[in-house]
Amino acid sequence: MPVITIANTKGGAGKTTAAVLLAVELAQCGYKVTVFDSDSQGWFSQWYESARPRGTISLVEHVTPASLEVQVRQMNPQADYFIIDLAGERNQLTATALAFSSHVLIPVQGSGMDAKGAVKILDLIAQIKAETGYEVPHSVLLSRVNPMVTTHSLLKIKGLLAQRGVDTLATPIVERGASREMFDLGVTLYDLDPQKVSNLDRAQANAREFAAEIMRILPARVISSPRRKGPFGWGRAA
Ligand SMILES: Nc1ncnc2c1ncn2[C@@H]1O[C@H](COP(=O)(O)OP(=O)(O)OP(=O)(O)O)[C@@H](O)[C@H]1O
Ligand SMILES: [Mg+2]
Repeated sequence: MPVITIANTKGGAGKTTAAVLLAVELAQCGYKVTVFDSDSQGWFSQWYESARPRGTISLVEHVTPASLEVQVRQMNPQADYFIIDLAGERNQLTATALAFSSHVLIPVQGSGMDAKGAVKILDLIAQIKAETGYEVPHSVLLSRVNPMVTTHSLLKIKGLLAQRGVDTLATPIVERGASREMFDLGVTLYDLDPQKVSNLDRAQANAREFAAEIMRILPARVISSPRRKGPFGWGRAA
């Protein structure tokens, strides 16, 4: 089962929003999704408790590096996708989650392109490769992209990242009032009133496109993590 980790050591990059959008869309497609809220601030959990999303999204709270592997293994038959929402910091849990991922999504705010937090994740991924031989698949997810940003500018950003050998997801997550309200009010995009929230249909279409790309890259029921030397306990010095 694919394990998708959403990581950027910078706070506010759009990690939890991406986790919420992805979990809801995958569940809408009928998949069983388990989300590990790996942020002690519990933003995903707070949204989850309030939204009570339909479909099969289960939540694991109070995740520790030691518990992560055990929990994923125990729940393997019960989930099609695992999503790990990390805190905006670099700690042992960040290192462990990365080493255990089928794919790491690194949200980078499209407008500011403040890439420092993303670079820390890329450095950790390089360190894992050096120490365990496992090259963790990863992509930058352009997040909170201004809807006015042109396709041309986005292609330019993707080109710059590609020059540095970093893949970017084709679908950016666009900055939308609907996504902010979804998060702030603790609901899903499908619970918002289209009469009251502008461009709700566009936000929903964007979320579907984002999830469709993830499902193409990581089809459910494919174990995409190659065998590797035990990553656990890895990164103790991280
Ligand atoms: N696509 C979006 N459209 C509108 N608002 C957004 C979008 N993505 C994120 N935001 C808003 O930006 C803020 C930070 O987003 P989010 O909590 O997802 O980031 P984060 O990376 O998880 O932050 P942290 O590191 O603190 O956990 C939130 O108020 C959220 O509503
Ligand atoms: Mg968060």
